[in-house]
Amino acid sequence: MSALLSAKNLSLSFGGVHAVRDISFDVEQGEVFSIIGPNGAGKTSIFNLISRLYNADSGDIVFAGESIISQPAHRIASLGIARTFQNTELFEHETVLNNMLIGRHVHRCSNLFSELLFLHSVRKQELEFRRIVEDVIDLLDLQSHRNQVIGSLPYGVRKMVEVARALCIQPKLLLLDEPSSGLNPEETEDVSFWIEDISRDYGATIIMVEHDMNLVSRSSDRVLAIADGAFVALGTPSEIQNHPDVQRAYLGD
Ligand SMILES: Nc1ncnc2c1ncn2[C@@H]1O[C@H](COP(=O)(O)OP(=O)(O)OP(=O)(O)O)[C@@H](O)[C@H]1O
Ligand SMILES: [Mg+2]
Repeated sequence: MSALLSAKNLSLSFGGVHAVRDISFDVEQGEVFSIIGPNGAGKTSIFNLISRLYNADSGDIVFAGESIISQPAHRIASLGIARTFQNTELFEHETVLNNMLIGRHVHRCSNLFSELLFLHSVRKQELEFRRIVEDVIDLLDLQSHRNQVIGSLPYGVRKMVEVARALCIQPKLLLLDEPSSGLNPEETEDVSFWIEDISRDYGATIIMVEHDMNLVSRSSDRVLAIADGAFVALGTPSEIQNHPDVQRAYLGD
């Protein structure tokens, strides 16, 4: 089986800081793959490399058989990669529904002329968008919030809206940066349920950066541990949790 995403010898530095050092990993189609590591290990930097917000100093990223290392950031969503941010990034003054519809726009393939005439195909496309958005609202249980403005919502719900927006582009690969941060234990448990739903119902492959080891263990097929930008270990959740190098990376010698 060929990997959906391959990171090959990725390196990234900021001045003297080596944020990512020669990191390689493969993520298989349908997998839930977690990246763990202490604060500042380089986890978000790896996401920023995959979503092309940062340029790698060296290395390659192959997605669905094609190198994306030189793709512009704005093309990444249309290739089928969606993400959430460690600190949610939503349109504060818009409703939940509008934030989700904005997420869908990457898939529009009509020109202005046909939009003006509101041709049959455009209307069909619009109905299709709405259906997908409604499915995502159901999946993530956001019905009661659909017309609420983001700024008025509690943090846990905002985090869900960000996931919802990402799902509206029907991604092949979903990158979740600390989905449980700021959530209470009950909300964190819910995260593992919707990850399972997304993986099963949408067939999306998931890469998750996460600090909560219970969530990582419950949801992940495999885990990559990094520290100081460098590879520490890769394996099943139990292999990683009991790995002496991983324990050393967290606790120090
Ligand atoms: N845009 C940037 N400019 C300068 N340094 C950066 C930048 N982005 C990341 N870094 C540095 O790169 C290193 C890795 O940061 P990164 O955000 O990837 O870590 P992380 O593993 O996501 O940490 P956390 O668990 O705290 O979110 C850190 O030393 C950080 O200060
Ligand atoms: Mg981070």
